Amino acid sequence: MISLQDLNSLPAPQFVAALAGVFERTSWVAERVAALRPLRSRFELHRAMCAAVEQAAADEQLALIRAHPELAAKKRLAGELTPESTREQQGAGLTACTPEEFSRLAHLNAAYAKKFGFPFVFAVRGHDRAAVIAALERRVANTLEHERGQALCEIGRIAAFRLADLVDEPLGSAIIAMADELARLSDRPDGLACSYLTPAHRATAAQLADWMLAAGLEVEVDTVGNVIGRWRDATASERTLVTGSHYDTVIDAGRFDGRLGILLPIAVVAQLRRAGVRLPYTLTIVGFAEEEGVRFKSTFLGSRTLAGRFDPAVLECRDADGMTMRQAMVAAGLDPATIPAAALDPRKLLGFVEVHIEQGPVLLNAAAPLGVVTSIAGSIRSLVSITGLAGHAGTVPMPLRRDAAAAAAEVVLAIEKRCSGTPGLVGTVGQLQIPGGAANVIPGRCELSVDIRADRDEVRDAAYASVLADSEGIAARRQVAIDWRKILDVAGVRCSPGMQQRWAESIGRVTDAVEARRLPSGAGHDAMVMAQITEMGMLFVRCGNGGISHHPAETLSAGDAELAAHAFRDFLVNLPLPP
Ligand code: HGY
Ligand code: MN
Ligand code: MN
Repeated sequence: MISLQDLNSLPAPQFVAALAGVFERTSWVAERVAALRPLRSRFELHRAMCAAVEQAAADEQLALIRAHPELAAKKRLAGELTPESTREQQGAGLTACTPEEFSRLAHLNAAYAKKFGFPFVFAVRGHDRAAVIAALERRVANTLEHERGQALCEIGRIAAFRLADLVDEPLGSAIIAMADELARLSDRPDGLACSYLTPAHRATAAQLADWMLAAGLEVEVDTVGNVIGRWRDATASERTLVTGSHYDTVIDAGRFDGRLGILLPIAVVAQLRRAGVRLPYTLTIVGFAEEEGVRFKSTFLGSRTLAGRFDPAVLECRDADGMTMRQAMVAAGLDPATIPAAALDPRKLLGFVEVHIEQGPVLLNAAAPLGVVTSIAGSIRSLVSITGLAGHAGTVPMPLRRDAAAAAAEVVLAIEKRCSGTPGLVGTVGQLQIPGGAANVIPGRCELSVDIRADRDEVRDAAYASVLADSEGIAARRQVAIDWRKILDVAGVRCSPGMQQRWAESIGRVTDAVEARRLPSGAGHDAMVMAQITEMGMLFVRCGNGGISHHPAETLSAGDAELAAHAFRDFLVNLPLPP
């Protein structure tokens, strides 16, 4: 391996030589990015190299594609392959084909090369012989234009895997860089939004799967879109510690909410594997497909699926365009009928741990980079629909109005008033709209969301009941109908004392903290769902900018990410395997 720091400081010829194996038998790619140094991360290097390929002349691109060996060509395996291709083809089992597989591949390779004028290029990492043959059978039917583009795409993926094996960089900056890369995949041109099963969401899943593959994990994408990576050493128990967080986001989100809890474990596993460390148990890293509930107003889809708590009724929830979740899943190639079978077996679980940014100012104000989560607040979330009477803004006297928006305004203030003044109790109206509203029409309808949380369920429930009563008074006085539809009612959970203690010890070993900071979580997390089937613990990581989150200004320092990764690594290697 070579450090990013060395790559950035080497004279250009040595830089090019160090990267000679990244693009098969092709050095002009590295030559064209040498002048762009210093590069901040392996991912920025990879993006620059892929850009150089995209900008290259057509004949240079064709030469690059043709530089790749045929997959499993018998004569080629004799020793003409580059070390990288040899490793990759061995990894996919292509050096152990049966005679039938060899002849099938030889036939398909010949047909492909004859049709397109270049060899079939496929990033075989994570695939076996059958998958390679299936891909070749599928792609030989494509057009020349499609396959030329696909070949360059596969070459980019191969380069990413090779750079992951070659370039060593500090965990903290690698984690930040991966979060930056994922933030480029958004539903909108400005800001980060990654809602369930949108194109950006699918691209994010594919990127996470590739990073898990590059870290040496076995990867699957399950029936709701959870990206699941497993690391099980040959001698390890199949009992598994599960870790992870969500990769969907709110609208105009920060880069670390959810994602940190997926990227950090991936980076730590890659480092542990490179260091030859082996765990006595299986580690499962999950990128949960949906937690925020933005598109279909239903939350924790990914964790509820793995916890066996998925409510099929939510499949009929519709997004803003009227598409049901079921339709969106089928369109994404997912099969809702197989959701129940995707649940984990609780008997095989050693626990669930989630690393997450605090999303608040407590650690920042305490000058503590890491904290142990003691509990996660429960929340009630409802959608409120108010129906009054539309009318002409110029002709209806005020006393005769049944203004739905004015009623909504009273509900909002009633919530704020009731939830103020009680520590740990919060109430939020995050969405408020007048469907089809116009400046010269009295609002006949108004819709709003209500989110009420507290560190104790009884406090939350009392506040909710009180606000409902206020709402009835407002409806009667204003002669409007106010309908409340509960879409989430999740109880608060305590983090396992044993898990808390282990996190506190890990923090103590990797920081100079005498006593690890312990704090409750006002935010909800997938961990509160996983706590229903196994022992649960959470590590909080300080975030800057006053602790702001669910906002583009959400921030995390590379130093704190590094410390969190060290604490996570310490937690993994010190987790006892019960008899
Ligand atoms: O709402 C929450 O607490 C989480 O961000 N889904
Ligand atoms: Mn969130
Ligand atoms: Mn989150």
